[in-house]
Amino acid sequence: QTPKGSCLEAVKIAIDAGYRHIDGAFVYFNEHEVGQAIREKIAEGKIKREDIFYCGKLWNTCHPPELVRPTLEKTLKILQLDYVDLYIIELPMAFKPGDALYPKDENGKFIYHETDLCATWEALEACKDAGLAKSIGVSNFNRRQLEMIMNKPGLKYKPVSNQVECHPYFTQPKLLEFCRQHDIVIVGYSPLGTSRDESWVNVSSPPLLKDPVLNAIGKKYNKTAAQIALRFNVQRGVVVIPKSFNPQRIRENFQIFDFCLTEKEMKEIEALNKNVRYVELLM
Ligand code: A2P
Repeated sequence: QTPKGSCLEAVKIAIDAGYRHIDGAFVYFNEHEVGQAIREKIAEGKIKREDIFYCGKLWNTCHPPELVRPTLEKTLKILQLDYVDLYIIELPMAFKPGDALYPKDENGKFIYHETDLCATWEALEACKDAGLAKSIGVSNFNRRQLEMIMNKPGLKYKPVSNQVECHPYFTQPKLLEFCRQHDIVIVGYSPLGTSRDESWVNVSSPPLLKDPVLNAIGKKYNKTAAQIALRFNVQRGVVVIPKSFNPQRIRENFQIFDFCLTEKEMKEIEALNKNVRYVELLM
């Protein structure tokens, strides 16, 4: 997901700017850089390990329960850390295990794999018990999939969070309400409307940051549309994980704690919801 080396610098700049939550994954192929950035900042005395909240993700090819712990251990080895703060199932569907992260058949179709999400979840619970992950959660789960885990006989820990696409054009009203009721934190990815990379983004949906309402509200507070989009989610209890490799924008995206949107503005932004995803995850 990042040009080689750029992630190390971006994470160090982010930590200096005040960020503590770092959202990563094995499939981003930059966990070694994230780990190095964290270790350098600890060595500098800027932070302690316990100040950082690192989220790692279990990829689709690693759902069979016996693969879960070794996969997390591999991530920890790459990061050179003893534990992750949060470990989540990245997607609710499994691919065929093996070296190919996106296994495809001769017709170019993904090769799926039948696994039991509840058994995968039990393996995550064991990772938490072993101290390898402080908390465990999920990503891209719908209500039905969440309920399947939560209603599992003998459930030891429920998911603390569900990471899903969430921003003013895709506000997730129903899932957010359900998760609120069950004390599951929604972590919103693509909170700025993505990088609009056509290889994985539905670009027929208009660019979020050009939205006139977000820009007009921004003018009032001397903030950018990006800052308004982030503030909107934070103010309604949705965690945001904006992505930037630009030092100025990394800092900009953190300057959202010195103003407050009015109830009317929150409603206006909510009304922008188009119920259209940028990230369609067609797999
Ligand atoms: P860049 O890395 O050049 O800053 P999302 O978090 O929704 O996935 O969006 C990421 C995209 O938004 C990236 O292309 C990033 O580009 C861009 N971006 C990040 N912060 C801002 C900002 N404050 N204003 C405009 N674009 C931004």
